[in-house]
Amino acid sequence: MQDLSDFGEPRTKIVTLPKDTNSSGNIFGGWILSQIDLAGVIAAQEIASEQVVTISMEEVIFKRPVFVGDVVSCYAKVLGVGNTSIRVQIEVIALRLSGEGFRERLHVTSAIATYVNVTKDGQKKPISAEIKRLHGF
Ligand SMILES: CC(C)(COP(=O)(O)OP(=O)(O)OC[C@H]1O[C@@H](n2cnc3c(N)ncnc32)[C@H](O)[C@@H]1OP(=O)(O)O)[C@@H](O)C(=O)NCCC(=O)NCCS
Repeated sequence: MQDLSDFGEPRTKIVTLPKDTNSSGNIFGGWILSQIDLAGVIAAQEIASEQVVTISMEEVIFKRPVFVGDVVSCYAKVLGVGNTSIRVQIEVIALRLSGEGFRERLHVTSAIATYVNVTKDGQKKPISAEIKRLHGF
């Protein structure tokens, strides 16, 4: 299991439901991607002055399947800040009740996503040097 001690608290936490499954009965990859995106946005918003939009998702690795009833937590931390962009690492953990009645903690997915700081009308906007410095970038 990857060390997530420098990620802080999970950005999102949600229980999976039968409506989120694909045709093989596991949780649909698109549902997991939306959770990843939400967690990434929450992390990026700490740096953004107004709002962010997603420009890219890269290196999405579905390491293990997610099952109905798993409690899915998304951890996210900002890796770097550019002129207008914010690069975020997201790690997804599933808490699963095993047959024996104890909880397993499984690292199921990881991703890197990039967000762009934009104005309310969607125009890209540079992130100030002061905000970068405040966050250690
Ligand atoms: C976000 C948007 C305003 C950026 O405008 P743009 O003219 O394409 O911007 P640029 O090409 O100058 O790139 C902006 C930043 O993103 C980065 N970027 C661009 N393409 C990228 C990619 N494929 N991967 C990672 N970063 C990327 C650039 O390096 C730049 O970073 P910097 O300013 O820190 O140097 C525009 O692309 C847009 O509106 N996209 C749609 C967003 C959207 O609807 N997302 C889905 C729902 S939230």
